[in-house]
Order: sequence, then structure tokens, then C-alpha cells
Amino acid sequence: MSTSRAPLEPNVSKVSILGSESIILGFHLTEYIVRDVLANITASNYVLITDTNLAPLYLDRYVAAFEAALAKLPQPPRLFTRILPPGELTKSRKVKAEIEDWLLSNHVTRDTCFLAMGGGVIGDLIGFVAATFMRGAAFVQIPTTLLAMVDSSIGGKTAIDTPAGKNLIGAFWQPKRIFMDLAFLQTLPEREFSNGMAEVVKTAAIWSEPDFVKLENGVEAVREAVLNGNTGIPFQEAQGLLLDVILASARVKAHVVTNDEREGGLRGLLNFGHSIGHGIEALVSPMMLHGECVSIGVIKEAELARNLGHLNQVAVGRLARCLSSYGLPISLDEKKVKDRIGNLYCHVDDIMEVMKVDKKNQGDKKRIVLLSAIGKTLEQRASIVPDSAIHKVLAPEQLVLPVTESATGPKKQVSLTTPGSKSISNRALLMAALGSGTVRVKNLLHSDDTQYMLAALKSLGAADFEWEDNGECLVVYGKGGQLRVPEKELFVGNAGTASRFLATVLTLIKTVDDPKHTQAVLTGNARMKQRPIAPLLTALKANGAKLTSVEKEGFLPIAVTPNGGFKGGRIELAASISSQYVSSILICAPYAQNEVELVLTGGQVISQPYIDMTIAMMESFGAVVKRLPNNTYRIQKSVYKNPDHYLVESDASSATYPLAIAAITGTTCTVTSIGSKSLQGDATFAINVLRPMGCTVVQTETATTVTGPPLGQLRPLASVDMETMTDAFLTASVLAAVTSNPKGENITRITGIANQRVKECNRIAAMVHELTKFGVTASELPDGIQIHGKPIKDLRAPKEGVHCYDDHRIAMSFSVLASVVPSGTIIQEKKCVEKTWPTWWDDLEHRLGVRLNGVDQGLKLQDQKPSSSYGRVKKSIVIIGMRGAGKTTLGQYAAETLGFDFVDVDQYFEVVEKTTVFDFINTWGWEQFRIKESQAIKNLLAKDSKYARNYVISCGGGIIETQESRDILKEHTRQGGKVLHLVRDLDQIVRYLNRDTTRPMFGEDMMSVWRRRRPWYRQVCNYEFVAYADSLVDDGWVSPTEWQAIKKDFQRFLFFILGKDTNQVDLSPTRIGIPTTFVSLTMKDLRSYADRLVQVCEGSDAVEIRIDLLQQPEEDEKTFIEYVGEQVAILRRHVNLPVIFTVRSKGQAGAFSDKDESGMFELLQWGQRWGCEYIDIEICWSTTAISSLLSTQGYSLSLASWHDIHRLTPWDSKELEAKYELAFQYGDIVKLVGVAESLEDNIKLENFRATKTEKPMIAINMAGAGQLSRVINNCLTPITHPALPHKAAPGQLSLAEINKARHLLGLLPTQHFWLIGTPIQHSMSPTLHNTGFNALGLPHNYGLLECHMLEYAEHALNDPSFGGASVTIPHKVAVMKYLDEVTENAKVIGAVNTVYVRYATVNGQKVRRLIGENTDFLGIQRRVQPLMLDASNPPAEGLVIGSGGTARAGLYALHKMGIKKIYLWNRTISKAYELKKVFEGMFEVTVVESLESPMEPGVIVSTVPADSGILLPEKVYGGIRGIICDMAYKPRRTKLLLQAERKGWSCVEGIEVLISQGIAQFEIWTGKRAPVETIEAEVMKKYEL
Ligand SMILES: NC(=O)c1ccc[n+]([C@@H]2O[C@H](COP(=O)([O-])OP(=O)(O)OC[C@H]3O[C@@H](n4cnc5c(N)ncnc54)[C@H](O)[C@@H]3O)[C@@H](O)[C@H]2O)c1
Ligand SMILES: [Zn+2]
Repeated sequence: MSTSRAPLEPNVSKVSILGSESIILGFHLTEYIVRDVLANITASNYVLITDTNLAPLYLDRYVAAFEAALAKLPQPPRLFTRILPPGELTKSRKVKAEIEDWLLSNHVTRDTCFLAMGGGVIGDLIGFVAATFMRGAAFVQIPTTLLAMVDSSIGGKTAIDTPAGKNLIGAFWQPKRIFMDLAFLQTLPEREFSNGMAEVVKTAAIWSEPDFVKLENGVEAVREAVLNGNTGIPFQEAQGLLLDVILASARVKAHVVTNDEREGGLRGLLNFGHSIGHGIEALVSPMMLHGECVSIGVIKEAELARNLGHLNQVAVGRLARCLSSYGLPISLDEKKVKDRIGNLYCHVDDIMEVMKVDKKNQGDKKRIVLLSAIGKTLEQRASIVPDSAIHKVLAPEQLVLPVTESATGPKKQVSLTTPGSKSISNRALLMAALGSGTVRVKNLLHSDDTQYMLAALKSLGAADFEWEDNGECLVVYGKGGQLRVPEKELFVGNAGTASRFLATVLTLIKTVDDPKHTQAVLTGNARMKQRPIAPLLTALKANGAKLTSVEKEGFLPIAVTPNGGFKGGRIELAASISSQYVSSILICAPYAQNEVELVLTGGQVISQPYIDMTIAMMESFGAVVKRLPNNTYRIQKSVYKNPDHYLVESDASSATYPLAIAAITGTTCTVTSIGSKSLQGDATFAINVLRPMGCTVVQTETATTVTGPPLGQLRPLASVDMETMTDAFLTASVLAAVTSNPKGENITRITGIANQRVKECNRIAAMVHELTKFGVTASELPDGIQIHGKPIKDLRAPKEGVHCYDDHRIAMSFSVLASVVPSGTIIQEKKCVEKTWPTWWDDLEHRLGVRLNGVDQGLKLQDQKPSSSYGRVKKSIVIIGMRGAGKTTLGQYAAETLGFDFVDVDQYFEVVEKTTVFDFINTWGWEQFRIKESQAIKNLLAKDSKYARNYVISCGGGIIETQESRDILKEHTRQGGKVLHLVRDLDQIVRYLNRDTTRPMFGEDMMSVWRRRRPWYRQVCNYEFVAYADSLVDDGWVSPTEWQAIKKDFQRFLFFILGKDTNQVDLSPTRIGIPTTFVSLTMKDLRSYADRLVQVCEGSDAVEIRIDLLQQPEEDEKTFIEYVGEQVAILRRHVNLPVIFTVRSKGQAGAFSDKDESGMFELLQWGQRWGCEYIDIEICWSTTAISSLLSTQGYSLSLASWHDIHRLTPWDSKELEAKYELAFQYGDIVKLVGVAESLEDNIKLENFRATKTEKPMIAINMAGAGQLSRVINNCLTPITHPALPHKAAPGQLSLAEINKARHLLGLLPTQHFWLIGTPIQHSMSPTLHNTGFNALGLPHNYGLLECHMLEYAEHALNDPSFGGASVTIPHKVAVMKYLDEVTENAKVIGAVNTVYVRYATVNGQKVRRLIGENTDFLGIQRRVQPLMLDASNPPAEGLVIGSGGTARAGLYALHKMGIKKIYLWNRTISKAYELKKVFEGMFEVTVVESLESPMEPGVIVSTVPADSGILLPEKVYGGIRGIICDMAYKPRRTKLLLQAERKGWSCVEGIEVLISQGIAQFEIWTGKRAPVETIEAEVMKKYEL
């Protein structure tokens, strides 16, 4: 391998691969590439292929350059270009074949050179095309993504995907040239850039530590070069670094490929991070990109190496920091990962399952690249690792096995150094750098803080640093306080300690040496810039420092101009906010010009122990500090003298865990870096807690050794005050759980630890809760905890494990307990230990001898899929929202409708706490209440809780006030649960609550409460229901009718989100062939059009709400989202059609901004949350935004749309094909809209339509000339309505217009419908059906065909224009012999009342078939069912009166509604028995001889004529509120109905049933929803006559 710069081309660098210098890097290479290709890769055809993202940016430039160069040639070769859709789907057989066919049809021969300009997708695909085209053609890579440059373009691997997996078909085919024009990267989306950086970091990690260092330090510069981030770094310099970084990476790949072209060992090294990365990628693609998965894989594989003892934590930490600084995720738990993958959970077993298929595996072992240091691998190839080890590292939970059950027993004697203290590490670093002489610092904590401190000290030239022992030891060559102005800003991230300490350090710089750098600037990340530092800055300025705040006064960033150094003398400092200010000045004080006298002002000094620690350390570096009265310190002028060695003391709290393991297992443990000299309070734990419990403790100045008593013989501490070591109380608590006391009480009481209630979690409550799970008796004390000891053998580990509340100390203390608990204990969320002891689990296993196993109790993939069958076990639904929004009432209603149980969090709280919420708050205050409330919801939703499934859980309004509760709720949604935000108009809530003056108010006005909580509600919910009420009745309540309507809406909403009834349009090919449509609403505000909505929607199959056209009235105070939510609710209230939620952007013929992608997708996500049946997604937005929207889609379908308003993608173009592919990929329905200038454009469209049948597609042309396409399109054609303010698009037609045009074109012939029977002169049916036809613009008609013999109707039935018939007395049975088929319903009832026509294909011939149905039972069912409280749980008993034909329909209706016990009564009892026989074998009918017989019917259907004047014995109505239906329909309210009504029953009138059965007929005939309201109004008009 060699690299050289060609003399004539000073701007390119070359890398050689497989013996030729074919990789060429530089900036702006277009001309160079064209020249080089034409000169050196001669061919008669050049085929340049790219994708639709790149073409508009670069294609013209390339074509122009080619054409200019070709023009100069005597016999110019041909140039072909082709643009493919972007994305992985393009890497397919189909696209490959298309390209090949295209070339062959153009007579392209073997003498061809392919140029692939694009990312890895284009490179892989075109490479493979070239490899097989005419048995192999020349091929050039022009990679445009970072990933393609450093990875996919090099090495000659080419491939396409198949349904069975990625990259399964392909070839090795080396490109002749690889041109890396880094200027391409400028247009690369930031996320794609990070994606490529994953490979760059990975390569450096396995290959070269110096390259890795460049990456660690070059974050800002690299970003500058690529993204123009305005970091202030000179562009040239930044570009140089970028080139360097990419060169380095490309070289490694080229070298490896050259030495191992076909994947022997060496090339396998590049797979670092990929074994596990691929496992993850298979599960989360396409929501996450390859590089993002590799980044997580790199960390996991590094942790694996660490666990196996090959790599230290320093290296793992460096990898993690480096990857995240380039915007990459390093764990699946990160928020940004969860935001992308939504509810998806990556179970260890699923990841391992994917890894199983790797061809490099060996049985139950895998090949994984193990790192031994940064830049080095354990072997020159991937190493063999057992599955169990991988499983352990990947698992999110840890099973800790008791040492007592291990074959060898516990390790008798252990000695170890526990992780260094963070405070001490930072101080030691700074003092060592300022000191004179060389010091070896050991046990330094590797955290962000120390990392930033180190980098800053380097830039200041304060000292030289060198790592020894693989990062275990830091050698500091101190320069005695010599400092210079750094060349660039000092960046400290969010590291508090470093920023405070460095502020004073900057004032130590005496002079400017380099005129280019006159100021030292200290800055941090956004969070850091908000953290206070003002008191320190004030003190420094008062002391003469030339220091200014660059952005906001009193905050970072600050700039310091050297001013002769730190003046010193008397300094006053307000010390009540942070002791770090004090330490900052103290540490620098020896270097002042005048002896410093530091006076702490501002009353109470905070955290005195930290000040003492600083002083003690200063003294150990030779400084002299005198303590004077009144919080005053005098510091002598001096220079720190570095000792030869400095051991950073361990974090004393961490040290308690290994010591406690010795105590509990009866073994000996020495912690070598903490002893009696320590100033940390927790260092006294061994003496003050372990010794009294019965341990032998030996403590030297710097080490502590503990030997436990024999197993089970720890003694309780009747009372121990742990105020000076509060963090160690958790360790003490787990020991207290296993004490024994032969002489008396076996209880330990720990006090003085009240502050532990407000740590990472409420630790006291958490310990009580978790210990209780083991069967230990424990309880809270006012400022502590009380624990009863229990014999070890009686402890029971909780099945689901210990919950850690994301608190490292809980995890570590329960690991101590778990080392003896029989049969093993699961510790959940094992990651939480990383905060202070990242290697805790490795150390527990390898140093302390405790055996571990990985566990994952999360759901596996197969169990996560949204189940299509409704009614299985469902996760509970949590309802949140403001008080008064109706959470309880609607929550209970939801439970009823879904067959769930209901629980109220407050009530649960009261039961558990044995007090009322009111009393609790009065005694303990709100804060404690919120904590308890969080616990309550957490317990309710816990995995093993019975409330976690099939419950509706209603929460208090303020539950979202705490982060903890919010996290719990978000976790619920992440696990696939539903959190539903219930919204009501705020003014209405206030009126409602004010109605009752006895209820306590907040003391805070509702509006500000709402404003504060609103974002939180919205953050945690994944669904939102707007309980819209138009107005309130006077006493603050919603009117009963409106309340019914809300309940109806809510039921629809619930059925939708649970997938029980998704209300979507049947677009299946088998539906009857009437075209479907949706009406496009164009009003600015639906409220003022509410009364016209029904009319406007008539005949449509769906309704589109155009959010971009809405205009919120100025006086409306809601947010826009709230406003839109209300608009959707208003629409729902009036029409029950499925809603298409559309936000149309300007570029797509709408009104929404083209630039606001996040605003667009936020709105679309709300559309999903509101349960809209369809979401329109414009495919012009970024893949990432679209994929992430699709990941939260639930039961909403997506309508992927492309509107070509500029006529850029004609129907016969390749570009449109690409759009189709894209829409096909994202949409459940494809929508393509063009603009027609002539009729011909419609013909082109029809040709296109004819080839696309795989998915429902809407394809139309806009403009007048395009109207024909709207007439022909038969899937969801957008329509307008005359009552709308204006059309949504030019050329849009109404349903009536379309139907008329279809009629004229012969696409919709007139059909005739008849009523057959006698007497029928007074029938309402003609009114009913003709009104319906009319409303939908259908050219059909319905007439009377009165006859007493069916023969007279025969000609009508046989007429080709016959559409269908209603059949009535006396022909309901006789008609059957004329029919080809009778439905199951009609068969069972034994009568046909509806005839309809269907066509079937028999032996390739279209055959007309007459089918008989009975809709009488449907009429009953459709009216009765909605009156039931819960239709899925119908009454047990029902009664039918009469025994004629209608009684048959009545019995069948009751059976269909699920009523089990059906009684039948008739005056002539023998007829009842005959009827019973008819249903024998199908369902049971019980004949009652008297209505006085004992029965409790919940539904009664009477089929006897009204003139019979029948009434029922009162007792039949029983004590229940049932539903009665009287089939007699004149008068409307029969005597029977009036009687039942007085008993409180719900009534169904005969006329209602009649209409409903007619509507059912209408819908069978037309395949459309009937315009029910219009029909009803007309029929009632006629009826009243
Ligand atoms: N052959 C190999 O050795 C190898 C190695 C790694 C990955 N791969 C393959 O590479 C593919 C992924 O490659 P990728 O990450 O480059 O993805 P990609 O090709 O899909 O490109 C990513 C996106 O960025 C756009 N884009 C590309 N360059 C751009 C630019 N300069 N400005 C603006 N937009 C730009 C593309 O249109 C695309 O939407 C996968 O199919 C993977 O299997 C192959
Ligand atoms: Zn890769």
C-alpha cells in the first residue's frame, strides 16, 4: 500500500488498492472525474446512474461536463443517464432487471462503463449490474455518502436484497476507480453523516490509536467541514482534517481488502461492532440506520471484551464518548432511539436469533472481534466467543446467583481497588498539572468531567500527559503553573466541576505570547450555559481579572484577557450556592501575586466537607492554608510540589459494597484505596456500622479490611444514626435484612437519612418496597428506616426481580443481598450502575467471585405484534387529563364498552395508604403526595400487577407533574400500552367545577395550571380524545343528548384504537364495483359549517379534513393543535365516515409551509393520536420523518401522496415510476396526482393505471382537462359538494357530477328496483330508496310491482337492468325458487325479503346470479343493539311475542345479538311450538305457555298487530331497564310501547325497524353507506301524512 500525491494534480490524494492507485480523494472533482474516466476507461457507452435525491443537485453538472468533453472526441461514445428512487428497496431484482432491459433495448454492448453516483444503495446495485452485464462490464464508484466513501465503495462487494434477506445475491466485482469527492458531503443530511462516522470510528478503533485520537479531538472541525456548522474553525483547516480522517479510514479498508480480498481473517476485523450491530439492525431497520446500529454494536462488543477481561473500562468509555459526540446512539435505552423505534422492544433472544444465521458461526459459539485496546484487537481476526457470554452482555437484567450455592463456595479472601472519587479526581488532576515535577496518578475516575478537565489543561499548555498501563495510570509532567492562551475555545460539555475550576485557572494566564490568540474562552453545551457561575465571576472580576461573559451576563461562555495573572489579596466570595466556587479559588490561590485571604460571605457555607477536602489535598501537594475565624482562609504563595505517586481515593460509598459482601458471606475483603485518613463520611461505614454488626474491621490510613462473621450471624443495630454517611444506608439496610439475634429483638433502625427521600428516587420508600418483596419486614421512620432481620434460608427472591428505580445504589446494594439469597435474584435495569461504577458487574463476577447470568423479561418479537384478534388479553388503558374532564365517567364507560375493569388511582392510593388523599396532603404536603402517586401508578402498571391488563386506569389530574410519573407513563406506551389524554374545553371544565363550591380548588387558576400541564399531557399520551360539547346546560352539565353523542364518539374511538372496528372503506378487489370517493372539506372553520356537514358528506365513503386550510379565529385562545383537535371532534360529531387527515404543503398544491418538516410531522402524529382512519403522507418529505411516523401508526392507514403541480413527472416517465415505488413503499394506499393540459394526459394516466394493480391507488389529473380521470378513477376519488365554500383542487367534481358522467360514458347504467307483493300501495319503500338514489346521484329507480302471483314479476327479475327487489307478503317464501342462491340468514329465517344481483365467473364466463337475503332481523338488530349498555355483553334472556314470519326474524335477531335464553309466546300455543321446531338444531327457543311464567327478559320483540292492543303483565318488565321493540308501526307509539316506557324501558318503534331494514337493503344494493338522515327525514314526512 502506498499513498502519494500526483504532481500534476495537486488537489487529489490517491490510495492504492489491490495494487493500483484507484481510490482518488479530493474536493470538487467533477471535471477531473470526467477527464480521467474518458481517458483511462475507454468504452463506447457510459451509463451514469444516480437517485432522485442527488439528480437535482448534481446530475446536470455531470452531464454538462461529459457532453463538453465528448464533443471534443472524434467518435463520441454514448452517454446514458438514469435516475432511480432512493432507499434500500431499490436494491432489488426488479430494479436490476429494469436497468438491464432498458440498456438492452438501447443496444448497449459489452463495451460499457457504468458510473454509480450515490450512496451504498446505488453503489451495491450498479456494481452488481456491471458484474453480470454481458458477463461483466467496467464500473466506477462515485460515492456520495460518507458511509459509501469509507465503506461500501471499497472492496468490491456488490449485492441486491431479496425478500429472504439483505445482500443475499451479489458478486465480488472491483470498480476500476473510486472517486471520493468530499464536496458531496455538504448536502448530506446530518443523520447520514453520523451514520458514516460510525464506520470511521470503528475502523480507527481496531486499527490505529493515533487516528482515534484525531477523531476524539476533531469533532468540531469535522462537523464544520461537512455541515458548515459555524464553529469558528477555519474552513480550510477543517477540510484538511476531514480529508485526513476519511483518508485514514479508506486506507485501512483498502489495506485489509488488498491483503484479504475474499474475507479470510483480516477482513473480518472490519466487522467490529457488526455482529451485534446486525442483530439489532434486523429488528429496528428501517427506523434506525446501519451506522446507528453498528454504533450500539461497537459498545456492546467492547463491553463483551471487557467482561472477558481483555479490555479496560477506560477504552470502553472513550469509545462511547467518541461515538456519542458524533451524534450516534450508544445504547438502545437512549431517548433518541426510543423516539425512533417507538414501542418496538429488542429482546436479547431476538437479537441472538438473528446473529445465529451468520455464516461465520461455529455451533453455539460466534465469531466476534475483540478489542484489547484502542487501536488493537485481541487477534488478527475475529475471536470465538461462547453464546452465553454474549447473552450476558446484551441482557438488560442480571441474575445474581448466591455464592453459597456455587461449587467452590465464596472467595475467602479478596483485595481490590474500587473506582476513584469524582471530586478527588478533578482536584488531583488540576493540582498535578499546576504542580512542579512528575506525578503518577492512579485510580482516576474516567468520566466526562475528568475528560474535559484533561483536554482543557492540555490546551492551556499546563502540563504534558501520558497514559501508562493501558490507561490505568496517568503520568502528569507538571509545569509549575506556566499557562498560555489556548488556540481554541475550551469546551467542557455539561461538566460542572471542570467549568467552575477552570474559570479561575484562566485568570492565572499572565501574558499573551501569540498575537493571534489574545483571549482564553471557556464554554459548554446549552445546558451548561444555563448553570449559574455568577458569584465566582463577580469575585474574580473584583479581583482585577479582565473577564467578560460573551453571551449572557453571569453565565458561560466567558472570555478572559491575560492581565498579568491572578492578583490575590483579600477576596470576598458568596459561598452559599456552591462549594465549588470556594474550591476553585482555593486551588489557584497559591499562584496569586499577593497572598490570598479568602472571605466567605453570604451566611451559611454550603458543603463544608468538600472545602475541607480541597484544603487537605492542597496540603498533600505542599500548599499551606491557614483557617482564620469567620469563614476566612489565608493561603501562602507557593508552587505545588508533585509527589511521585498519587492514588486517587476511592469513592467511599462505592467501597461499602464489596465490604458488605464480605460481611454477609463471612469472608474477608480489603479495599486498598480508602482508609481512616479519608475525609469522605462514608469511609467510616466499616467502623461504625459493620463492626457493631459483628464484623472484624482493620483500618489503616489508606486501606480497610473487613471479615464477616459466619454466615447468618450478623447482628442487628437497635439504633444507628447515619447522618454523616447517608448514601451508605442502602448497604446497611440489606445487611439488616439478614441479621439474627439470639439474645433479643432482631430489628435495625437507621435514622438521620431524611435527605435520601429526594435522591435518584425516594430511596427509603424504595428500600422498604423492594425488601418487602423478599419477605422482609421493613417500614419507614420519620427520618429513616426500620428492618426486621430474617434467616437467609427464608428469603425469597421476587420473581420479576428487584426494581432499581434507575438508581445505581439500589442495584449495587441488592447485589450484596443477592449474593446469599437462595436460588438467585434478578436485578432489573442493570445499566444503572454505570453512573459511578461502570464495571460493577464485571468486578462482582471476576473479582468478588459472584456468578451472574443475563436475563431479559421483556417481550419477544412474536409477542409484540399488534394482535389482529380482538378480545385477547390487552394492556390496560391509562386515562389522563385535567380534573373535571370526565376521566372517571368516561373511564368507567370505556371499561364497560371494552369489557375491562376500572380503577381510579386516587382510590387505589387511599386503599393502600389507608387514608384519604385530602388528609394525606394536609399532613404530608403535595410533594409527598406526588411521590406516592408515582408509586401507585408504577405499582398498578408493574408487570406482575393484575391491573396491568384489561383495566381502564383513571389518574388524578396532576399525575404528570412529576418526571417520575411521566417516565412511567411513557414506558407504558413504549411497551405497547395506551395512554389516553382526555380533553374538554377548559371554560366548560371551570364552569362544571364551580357548580360545586364544596370541592377544594387549587388555589391556582385553572388556566395557568392547564398551560403548565398541557405539554406534559401531550408528551406522555399516545392517544387523545376530545370530548367536545357544543354548550353546557345552565347548571354546568353537558346536556343528556350531547352526552350520548360524546359516548358514541368515544366508543368509536376506543374500537378504533383497539382495532375492534377500524371503520375503514372496503377497497378489497372483491367489493362490489361501485367506485369509492371521499369528500374534501375546504372550510376555514368547521364550527360555522357544522349544520351542513352531513349534507356535504352524503354518499361519500370517507371525508378528508384539510388541516392546512383551517384558519383559527383570532379570538380563539387555544393552541393550534388544540384547535385542530376540536375541529376533528366536531367533524366526528356530525358524520361517522372514516376521516382522512391531510396537511397539504404548498409544493403539493396546499397551503402548509414547505420548510416546516417538524411542524408537518407533528400534526400528522396528532392525526394518529386522534384516531383518524387515514393519514395522508406526502412522499416529498425525508425518509426518516416518514419512517418514524409510520412506526407509530397503530390502526391508522397511510395514504402516500405525490402531487405533481409543475408537471415534472409525466405519467409515462421514469421519475413517476420512482414516485410510485416510494408511495408504494410507504402507503397502504397510493395517491398520485398530475396536471392535465390535454385529454392525452388522461390517456397516459390510464395506461399507467392499467399496470398498477398491487395496491389500492388513487390516480387523477387536476385541471379541467383532467376531469375525465376523476370520472374513471374508481378508488377513493376526491370529490367536492355544491354546499362547500370552494373546491379543494381545480377540476374537482361532485359525486352527482361523477355519477352522471359515468352514466353518460356507459360506466354506470340505470338499474331498476322493485317492491314485489300485495297490498303495497301505502308502502314507504319507494320514498326510502328513491330518496337515497337521488342523494347519491345514482341514475336508478325503485317502483311498485304489485302482484299476487310471482309469475307476473318474472320478467322484471330477468331483465338485464334489474338491480334488486324488496319482497313482501305473500311472496317471501315462494320467491326462493327464482333465485340462484339464498343466504344463511334467509335460510334460517325461512324467508327472503331482499333480492340482489351479483356476477360470478364460471368457466371464464360472467354469470348473473340472483341472491336472496333477509334484512328484517338486521332492522331489529341495528336498532336494539345501540341501546344496550355493552353490546358485547348482552342481557341473558329475551322474549319474542307472536309466531308469524316477523317472529322468525325476531327470534333470529335475538340469537344474532348473543342472547342465550330466548322465550317465545303466542296466543295460539301450538303455533309457537311449530316455530320452535324450525330453529331446532340451530339454537334453543323456550316456549312459555303463560306470560306469567318466571322469566327476566332484557329484550322483548313483539310481532303481533297493533290492533291486538296487547299489554304485558307488569312483572315481565322486572326490576331491570330493558329494551322493547314493537314491530307494529301504526301508531308510532303503540299501547305496548307506552306501557314499557312507563316502566323505564327503552323503546324501538316499528317504523324505525322498517327504515333500518330498508337502509340495509339499500346498502346491499349500492355497496354504499346510505344517506340515512336524508332518507329518514323524507320517509317520516310521508309517514306523518
Ligand atoms: N458493499 C459493501 O461493502 C457495503 C458496505 C456497507 C454498506 N453497504 C450497503 O450500503 C447501503 C447503505 O448505503 P448509504 O448509507 O450510503 O445509504 P443510501 O445509498 O441509501 O444513501 C442515503 C441517503 O442519502 C441520500 N444521499 C446520498 N448522497 C447524498 C448527498 N451527497 N447529498 C444529499 N443526499 C444524499 C440518498 O439519496 C439516500 O436517500 C446499504 O444497502 C448497505 O447494505 C454495502
Ligand atoms: Zn458497516
